[in-house]
Amino acid sequence: MAVAQISASLSLSIRAASGISSAAGPARLPHFNSGRIGATFASGSPLIIKRAYQQRNAACKSMPISIRCEQSTKEGGLDVWLGRLAMIGFAVAIGVEVSTGKGLLENFGLTSPLPTAALGVTALVGVLTAVFIFQSGSEKKQANRILALPTYVASMFPYDANNSCCRTSVFGMGGAVSRIAKRFFPKNGVRILMVGLDASGKTTILYKLKLGDIVNTIPTIGFNVETIEYKNITFTIWDVGGQDKIRPLWRHYFQNTQGIIFVVDSIDRERISEARNELHCILSESELSNATLLVFANKQDLPHAMSSSEVADKLALHLLRNRFWYIQSTSATTGQGLYEGLDWLSDNIVNNKA
Ligand code: GTP
Ligand code: MG
Repeated sequence: MAVAQISASLSLSIRAASGISSAAGPARLPHFNSGRIGATFASGSPLIIKRAYQQRNAACKSMPISIRCEQSTKEGGLDVWLGRLAMIGFAVAIGVEVSTGKGLLENFGLTSPLPTAALGVTALVGVLTAVFIFQSGSEKKQANRILALPTYVASMFPYDANNSCCRTSVFGMGGAVSRIAKRFFPKNGVRILMVGLDASGKTTILYKLKLGDIVNTIPTIGFNVETIEYKNITFTIWDVGGQDKIRPLWRHYFQNTQGIIFVVDSIDRERISEARNELHCILSESELSNATLLVFANKQDLPHAMSSSEVADKLALHLLRNRFWYIQSTSATTGQGLYEGLDWLSDNIVNNKA
């Protein structure tokens, strides 16, 4: 399976003594330093932890934790600036057309004079381009909007076979812009928030997707974040710890989330109603009102796992209104169903945005 992956991270290990004291009883996180969570730093990378998950309670006493600093290498990169220059060049070309009263090609003596309608359309394209470029703060949105521009204009001006000048001016230029945007702007990116009760398998899923391998995990305190490229889409997946004491922190990750992956332990019948409550609670948040929902009914490799339809019933997914949702049977350990889930997300989030 062709999956390219990119990551920019800096990890270092410290002893838990600095922030987390030993756990007594079922509570695994008695002294949680919430000041750290939600900032740039996170703890809980499984990559430097060798201890088996089954030993996680005992491991809390002296567990090493990691601090991870994620850093984007894209913002301000050469390709982004080249893309921006290309877009400014395009806007200047449009400006020249409008101010000289001639089409761009006509200025080079390549076409017959343009009719007024074509000039009007060109001016409109110029205005729309300026709005599309400067309205958006992110290069991803700029690229999407510029790519959508020719289609948008085309829908307003049906093709007239007799007006070849108009076709050259609008559609030809639109195609050129699309090519420039595709060349210079980064691929589509989507922000995914992965939550669910503790021990449902979120971190195992994240690193199975990222590394193609199973890692030994400990309870995530804070978050792990990785970027995974799949089908020309960069998924930035935020895996946030699911212990009950830190669930209130989930909301710090809601902003700009386009897709939610809610992971359920399909053998944990006792806590399925707790999972349902948590799910419906986050779905009621306004910041997630447009987020697409993918539920992973995980641990399907284990005997007596609830089927995906049983999980869907118990989570009351059919009661959801105004929500794109889908449930996928998965096994993080075998990898079953994980990419099918990403397939659905890639289709539905991108279609949703357009
Ligand atoms: P928190 O970080 O506490 O929120 O937990 P989590 O959701 O990240 O769970 P984690 O990935 O740490 O997995 C918990 C345990 O379940 C680990 O022992 C995993 O190996 C195991 N596990 C996860 N997914 C599967 C699966 O699909 N099948 C089986 N058999 N075990 C799984
Ligand atoms: Mg985890």
